[in-house]
Amino acid sequence: MADLLGDVAKYYTEKLRAHGETPNGVDWNSEEGQVLRFEQLAKVIDGSVPFSISDLGCGYGAFYGYLSKRFSRFAYIGCDVSEAMTEAAARRFPDANAKFVVAAEPPESCDFAVASGIFNVKLGSADAEWLKHVHATLDVLDRAGKRGFAFNCLTSYSDKERMREDLFYGDPCRLFDLCKRRYSKQVALLHDYGLYEFTILVRKPQP
Ligand SMILES: C[S@@+](CC[C@H](N)C(=O)[O-])C[C@H]1O[C@@H](n2cnc3c(N)ncnc32)[C@H](O)[C@@H]1O
Repeated sequence: MADLLGDVAKYYTEKLRAHGETPNGVDWNSEEGQVLRFEQLAKVIDGSVPFSISDLGCGYGAFYGYLSKRFSRFAYIGCDVSEAMTEAAARRFPDANAKFVVAAEPPESCDFAVASGIFNVKLGSADAEWLKHVHATLDVLDRAGKRGFAFNCLTSYSDKERMREDLFYGDPCRLFDLCKRRYSKQVALLHDYGLYEFTILVRKPQP
């Protein structure tokens, strides 16, 4: 698994070098799509009270920028396996309520955890191996978000002729089922926002 994430880190470090701190630099096609994804993930947040949040695969910190325009009382931890990404994020956002660390698991748990785009690029891994990695990483997100977590994934309902060998396309129904059985009874599947992907929100009932 370490090798697999090492290759992922190299892949994204190269993207950042080639395209800079832009959506293309984290392998997105557009800022519009990047923000549309953030809008889905942010639905897991209850912002009526101060909250803490971790962002697994934070890239150059774009989700922190998105949150800071919408919320004022929150603490944020961004984690990424690419050191070049966390360095770029820390330079962009030297804010007191944000920290950025090189890690594949947040150093402490928060109220919420999100992950945008971390399951997409599987490089040379077989689907079965990558699916194991996805399942293990969902356990990481579950530990990281005490009140809930959210993630996105490319969809197996994509047009066949546009699907790529190096990308992973998850089955939204199976991942919904897994989350419902393993993590919480309160799970939402969002597959209506016009991208070839879906977002799952897992809310954990509070005592
Ligand atoms: C598609 S980019 C998206 C970046 C950011 N979430 C955004 O939307 O702007 C995915 C990022 O996740 C990082 N990454 C992939 N898998 C990871 C993992 N298991 N743990 C931490 N970082 C990961 C990559 O290095 C890359 O920077």
